[in-house]
Amino acid sequence: MADDTTDTKSSNQMWGGRFASGPDAIMEEINASIGFDKKLFAQDIRGSIAHATMLAHQGIISAEDKDKIVHGLNTILSEIESGNFEFSRQLEDIHMNVEARLATLIGPAAGRLHTARSRNDQVALDFRLWVKEELQKTEQMLTRLIAAFLDRAEEHAESVMPGFTHLQTAQPVTFGHHCMAYVEMFGRDRSRVRHAIEHLDESPIGAAALAGTGYPIDRHMTAKALGFREPTRNSIDTVSDRDFAIEFLSIAAIAGMHLSRLAEEIVIWSTPQFGFVRLSDAFSTGSSIMPQKKNPDAAELVRAKTGRINGSLVALLTIMKGLPLAYSKDMQEDKEQVFDAAESLELAIAAMTGMVRDMTVNTARMKAAAGSGYSTATDLADWLVREAGLPFRDAHHVTGRAVALAESKGCDLAELPLSDLQAIHPDITDQVYDVLTVEASVASRKSFGGTAPSEVRKQIAFWRARN
Ligand code: ARG
Repeated sequence: MADDTTDTKSSNQMWGGRFASGPDAIMEEINASIGFDKKLFAQDIRGSIAHATMLAHQGIISAEDKDKIVHGLNTILSEIESGNFEFSRQLEDIHMNVEARLATLIGPAAGRLHTARSRNDQVALDFRLWVKEELQKTEQMLTRLIAAFLDRAEEHAESVMPGFTHLQTAQPVTFGHHCMAYVEMFGRDRSRVRHAIEHLDESPIGAAALAGTGYPIDRHMTAKALGFREPTRNSIDTVSDRDFAIEFLSIAAIAGMHLSRLAEEIVIWSTPQFGFVRLSDAFSTGSSIMPQKKNPDAAELVRAKTGRINGSLVALLTIMKGLPLAYSKDMQEDKEQVFDAAESLELAIAAMTGMVRDMTVNTARMKAAAGSGYSTATDLADWLVREAGLPFRDAHHVTGRAVALAESKGCDLAELPLSDLQAIHPDITDQVYDVLTVEASVASRKSFGGTAPSEVRKQIAFWRARN
């Protein structure tokens, strides 16, 4: 590195490596946020245009200065968008980078933009706008994921699969019903997103450093111009609040957990042992050494992204937990966590939506698995209660004996001859075979929210109307 060789030996010993030039370099490195907050350029410029417009409307700056400022800001916007803007780390953050460029473009009028505001309310504004847009994007992406599940659920309202508890075969369910479980989960995530948008829909600009301002500003005007419902009500809270970012991360963590459970199921289902689903090459990879393999990498990576998102949530909660009111520079560390989690969440939802639509469902494998493991044992017990009048506990015991017998014979419950069943309980008739099939089992579970195809179709209709 050129720095190392050109610097004096003593400063090298003192600061070492990249900080060879001394304390100034360390300060710049730790203080600057431009490396990541340049992502907020569009929000920063939008906020400044709204602020300048309000200042002129209130007679705090002249209309000519406002026009120059707005024109200059729009020029900067297109410079950044077209990649013709030079960001400077010396200028610390996006706010100072934009303001410095504005001064170069329009001269002294640029200095009037920062009247009646501070970087504290400015950054709170920029970040809120960014998180709000991200939440809106998340809402749309979740809606597409839900739609993918609704289509698969409709297609497979009748397809029988084993339902599991403890990952042991429990009772037959339909694949449509299983898909609808995810619709419920992602539906809750989406309503959390909607609530979070409502919570953050207040404009921070005008809180200034922390105490408000003596200039006759109109915070309702800027709130409206920026698409917020209303201005925030307490200037101290406004500049020290990052709940909106933490809420975003919490929602992302919960949705990530759902996505990860789905990912785990896809990983299990796509093993040759299960063989319930098959992913196309679009969402899997081959092995460089074992030609027979098809690995569910995309699902595994979705599962892993959840770890990053959880990390971001814990990081920001920890950053905020000890801060006295109002603003402290610690809060600058909020952005990378949110940006990283947002990127992970977007990718994970997109990948999952793709996989849900892409996967081929092997209904024959699912059905065969649904019938194994004595999955209709509860149906036999229920039949004994209903048709033979046994108390459920006794029926459970009789059924246990039938399962043990079938196990010793190496056959399914439905394959036991009637004489065997009658030897266990004399009231059993050949009617019992009607409930021992997986289709009959599934069709019988018509309770509200149950797995019967007729119920699943009702829930699909409910969610389609809700979208
Ligand atoms: N870059 C800063 C941040 O992200 C902007 C606010 C700076 N305010 C201050 N008083 N130093 O938090």
